Amino acid sequence: MLAQLTAERLILRPLQLSDADQAQRLFPQWEIVKYLNAKVPWPFPADGVLTFYRDVSFPAIERGDEWHWTLRLKNAPDELIGAISLHRGDQINRGFWLSQPWQGKGLMTEAVCATNDFWFDVLGFDVLRAPKAAENIASRRISEKTGMRIVATCESEYVCGRLLTEMWEITADEWHAKRHVLNHCR
Ligand SMILES: CC(C)(COP(=O)(O)OP(=O)(O)OC[C@H]1O[C@@H](n2cnc3c(N)ncnc32)[C@H](O)[C@@H]1OP(=O)(O)O)[C@@H](O)C(=O)NCCC(=O)NCCS
Repeated sequence: MLAQLTAERLILRPLQLSDADQAQRLFPQWEIVKYLNAKVPWPFPADGVLTFYRDVSFPAIERGDEWHWTLRLKNAPDELIGAISLHRGDQINRGFWLSQPWQGKGLMTEAVCATNDFWFDVLGFDVLRAPKAAENIASRRISEKTGMRIVATCESEYVCGRLLTEMWEITADEWHAKRHVLNHCR
């Protein structure tokens, strides 16, 4: 059973299938999907979140290959405001999105700190890699703020088209050396 995590302002609650309704109301926005992998369908189907959770996320969770949480403010724990997930593998170890009204407040950086601790200290992986579109400034800033480095570039397909991708990486040793001096990782 996956643990609930907390950050300064956030609860990271293990994903439940019943979260699909709330996520479906928030996720299908161009500003949220445009820099996601082109596998995300657009226009987004009315049952897109439910079918993705049921057919992709939960089977991977049950295999022990993925770990998913929904994000909630500590002072409004019934309201889902975004999600973050970790993925076993060599290339794409993390995904995240946050509903627009909550963006730009440092919340996803807090969630990343909590899930980095889980990735390195609970799951025991040696490295975390996250590819992202170079023009996805907000996501890029999260990588910078949490001590990641660019290790490769390539082109890949996003919902909005083909873009330059940067592969960001951080090792367990780097995370352990940096996390205590990062403002967002209390
Ligand atoms: C990426 C995303 C999760 C960021 O969440 P968030 O809670 O707003 O992120 P944070 O506030 O923790 O950090 C974002 C940083 O980017 C900065 N930023 C955001 N937009 C920016 C812009 N257009 N120009 C410059 N800086 C920008 C913010 O100022 C902040 O940096 P700061 O703390 O130094 O001021 C959110 O924008 C999102 O859901 N985007 C759509 C989905 C997505 O792209 N997911 C990632 C795929 S790789």
